[in-house]
Amino acid sequence: MKRIGVFTSGGDAPGMNAAIRAVVRMAVYHNLEVFGIRSGYRGMINDDIVPLESKSASNIIQRGGTILRTARSEEFMTKEGREKAFNNLQKHGIEGLIGIGGDGTFKGLTTFMDEHPVKVIGVPGTIDNDLYGTDYTIGFDTAVNTALDIIDKIRDTAAAHERLFYVEVMGRDTGFIAVDVGIASGAEYIAIPETQTNIDELREMLAHYRKDKSSAIIIVAEGDEEGNAFEIANKVKDAAGYDYRISVIGHVQRGGSPTALDRVLASRLGAAAVEKLVEEKSGIMVGEINWEISEIPLKDAWERHKTIRHRLIELARILSM
Ligand code: F6P
Repeated sequence: MKRIGVFTSGGDAPGMNAAIRAVVRMAVYHNLEVFGIRSGYRGMINDDIVPLESKSASNIIQRGGTILRTARSEEFMTKEGREKAFNNLQKHGIEGLIGIGGDGTFKGLTTFMDEHPVKVIGVPGTIDNDLYGTDYTIGFDTAVNTALDIIDKIRDTAAAHERLFYVEVMGRDTGFIAVDVGIASGAEYIAIPETQTNIDELREMLAHYRKDKSSAIIIVAEGDEEGNAFEIANKVKDAAGYDYRISVIGHVQRGGSPTALDRVLASRLGAAAVEKLVEEKSGIMVGEINWEISEIPLKDAWERHKTIRHRLIELARILSM
């Protein structure tokens, strides 16, 4: 293998740039030429492909977002779109692809490699942490810390005004961010899609808290089955007499400088992805399990389900009594 391509796709995540840097530098180390494919699959289809050198990766390890930009492409979901993308890769002599992203990115890569002779490696980059085969995904730690910083500030005003706050964090299908943020912020309740949120139980808990807690925080994952923070607040109604407010943290969670943990993870996984291509491997996602680099079939990353740590939800409840 002489030439490889790297791209980011789906929702951006802090640390994607650190992963791109690691891919570029490790590729240079192995005497590979590396190309950056801009705006994910869209750029592959539109031939938005540029050569990257070692210095292209200078001064990006600390930056949020992605220098390669990202997109969600409808066209890549069609056979014709993927055909165009493959022709462009061939034009540049790209034989190996490293895709940094989440489940949607990996679904696309799986179909692509089934149809075309190209080697593919996935690097887990999403704030959601919802990929099987890695303890953490790139961007999760930063997103949790960003949300946490905001919730600490909300606690100040909640305590000052003796209010209850419903705080909505990201997580369309999963509650990983909500659980870690919930326990780290000392939240009184965590509502996530993986567990049934019981409105009656929530009311009872609030009534209990009302006796000796002048303020409280409820963390709601945006994809909770009872609805978002506004909908849950509406269902709970009078909130045991608490004066309440709702705060949606939103896309702030996707930006910002990556934490040290995310930079280290991104550096290790970006480098490992190149090494797997050098070993002529394909169709896998690299991850980190118990501090060791791991690999699983790409399909497993999105087909299998990573389980939420339910004991943490229980622990959050006990500790907030
Ligand atoms: O997958 C990452 C994520 O931030 C989810 O947590 C969130 O639901 C979604 O992306 C938001 O997507 P968009 O940026 O398209 O609104």
